[in-house]
Amino acid sequence: MLDKIKALQEEIDAIVASSKEEVEELRIKYISKKGLIGQLFNDFKTVPAEQKKEVGQAINTLKTFALEKINTLKEGFENNGSESAGQDLTMPGEPMKLGTRHPLSLVKNEIIGIFARLGFTVAEGPEIEDDWHVFSALNFPPEHPARDMQDTFFIEKDPDVLLRTHTSSVQIRVMERTEPPIRAIFPGRVFRNEAISARSHCIFHQIEGLYVDENVSFADLKQTLLQFAKELFGEDTKIRLRPSYFPFTEPSAEMDVSCSICGGKGCNVCKYTGWLEILGCGMVDPNVLELCNIDSRKYTGFAFGMGIERITMLRYGIKDIRHFFENDVRFLKQFESAT
Ligand code: PHE
Repeated sequence: MLDKIKALQEEIDAIVASSKEEVEELRIKYISKKGLIGQLFNDFKTVPAEQKKEVGQAINTLKTFALEKINTLKEGFENNGSESAGQDLTMPGEPMKLGTRHPLSLVKNEIIGIFARLGFTVAEGPEIEDDWHVFSALNFPPEHPARDMQDTFFIEKDPDVLLRTHTSSVQIRVMERTEPPIRAIFPGRVFRNEAISARSHCIFHQIEGLYVDENVSFADLKQTLLQFAKELFGEDTKIRLRPSYFPFTEPSAEMDVSCSICGGKGCNVCKYTGWLEILGCGMVDPNVLELCNIDSRKYTGFAFGMGIERITMLRYGIKDIRHFFENDVRFLKQFESAT
C-alpha cells in the first residue's frame, strides 16, 4: 500500500498539462471521489490495524499534495491572458521618481531663510503693475529712460498697464498700507525688454528688502548686508559698497562680495578683480516715504534688491542664464530635492 502511495505521488509530481481542460481531467483522475486517491481511501479499510496510522497519514499527505499541484496548474491557465499574466503581484511597485526643486527656488528659499532669522517677513505684489507703483512713486522723473518701451513691456496700448521691471514696486504697495516699523522682503518675477543671451533674459527674479523705522541708518543697512553675505557665501566673505544711483534711494550703493570662487585672488568669474557685484541698495529717499504717506521726519529706512539668477549662477557655477527657463530635466535633476 505504501509503495502504491509513493508511486502515485511521483506520478503526480511529474504531471504537466497543456490546457485548462486537461487539468480538469487530471483532477477527476486523481482527486474526485472515484479517482485514484479516492480509491486509496476505499482500500484503506483493508489495511491491518497496526499500519492504519502510518498509511492514513501518507494518504492524507498525498491528497494535499495532489490538490496543491492541480490548483497551481489551474491558476497558471486562469491567469493566462489576463492583465496579471506572468506577473508577481506581490512584488514592490516601481519606485516613483521624486522631482527636484528648481535651483532658483533653492536659492530663493535660502535667502528668505537668512532674512527670516534677521526678523524680515515675506510679502508679494502683482506682476502686472501700473506706472505709479513701478515708477512714479519710486521717484522716477517723467522722462526717465526706464519708462521707455525699449525697457518696459506694456500689456496694452494703455501705458498704465505694464509688467513690473523690478520688485521695488512691492516696496510702495507695502508702505502704502503699513504703518512703520516695516521689515520685509519681497521675492518675485520681473520683466525687462532685453535681448536674450547667456547673461541676460527678459524674465528673471529678484528679492527686494525694506526696513523702515525710527533711526534706521546706513550702518544698519551695511551690517544687515554683511550678515547676509556671510551666511550665503561663507563666514570669510567680505563686502564692499560702491556709490551708485537709483531714483528711489539716497544715498545709493552697489554691493560687491569677495569672489567666493577664488577667495578674492582674482579669477575669470570675477574678471580678475576679486569682487562680484550682487545687489543695489540705499537709504529710502524721503520723497518716496512721503509719496506713501510716511512721515519722513520721523522715519527713515533702507532698501536693497538683488537678482536671484545671478546669485544662483555664482552658487552653482551655471554659465548660461537660459538654462533656468528651458526646463531640461537633465539640468534640473542635478539640484537637491529639498531644503
Ligand atoms: N530696483 C533696483 C534694480 O532693479 C535694485 C534696488 C532695490 C536698488 C532697492 C536699491 C534699492 O536694479
